[in-house]
Amino acid sequence: KRPLRIAPSILSADFSNLGPEVRSVVADGADWIHLDIMDGHFVPNITFGPAVVKSLRKYTDAIFDCHLMIEPADPFIPAFAEAGCDYITVHEEAGPHLHRSLQNIRNLGKKAGVALNPATPVSMIEHVIDDLDLILIMTVNPGFGGQKFIPATLEKIRQANALIGDRPIELEVDGGIAPDTVGAVTEAGANALVAGSAIFGRAENGSYAPSIKALRDA
Ligand code: DX5
Ligand code: ZN
Repeated sequence: KRPLRIAPSILSADFSNLGPEVRSVVADGADWIHLDIMDGHFVPNITFGPAVVKSLRKYTDAIFDCHLMIEPADPFIPAFAEAGCDYITVHEEAGPHLHRSLQNIRNLGKKAGVALNPATPVSMIEHVIDDLDLILIMTVNPGFGGQKFIPATLEKIRQANALIGDRPIELEVDGGIAPDTVGAVTEAGANALVAGSAIFGRAENGSYAPSIKALRDA
């Protein structure tokens, strides 16, 4: 069984104070830091690039889980690797040469992930399964934090879990993950839980520990 990973998405953090935000969320119990990279083209929103990732690298040794919502992704993979990402996840829909993108990531010594939008079937990644370290099932349409979980994605989580079998591949979910959806996604096989608003939007007395604990216990 794969270990549970709580991966706060700093998309919902205070962008004027990202370094300390990353440091506190790790101190408060986060396992990974999820970094949402958006280009205003593949998704209708813009966030930050490799320079910001590189600056954040100084604040923690936690795993940096970089979710590239950019098209094309390939020209930027080396910069994100150099910036200190541990996992680099590209979208299946963002380029015609997924196998090449995954190889590019692994050739740079990084873990390779693929993300699937809600409408993309799991069968799209059958033939690259041995080139993957992580599968990210989008449980909302990518672009914004705070959206509602799409229940039809549960069946895809089950299918991805079956496809993984006993391979050492992380199964991640992203979007609308909160205490009320954690049970269903983990039962379906997800082990890495991205959460933005459920963590950064719910600080209690300046601490993220209660909201992280609520996800773990759910
Ligand atoms: C959505 C991003 C998510 C987002 C999740 O495009 O990929 O990582 O921050 O936010 P919540 O947890 O608020 O749905
Ligand atoms: Zn994400």
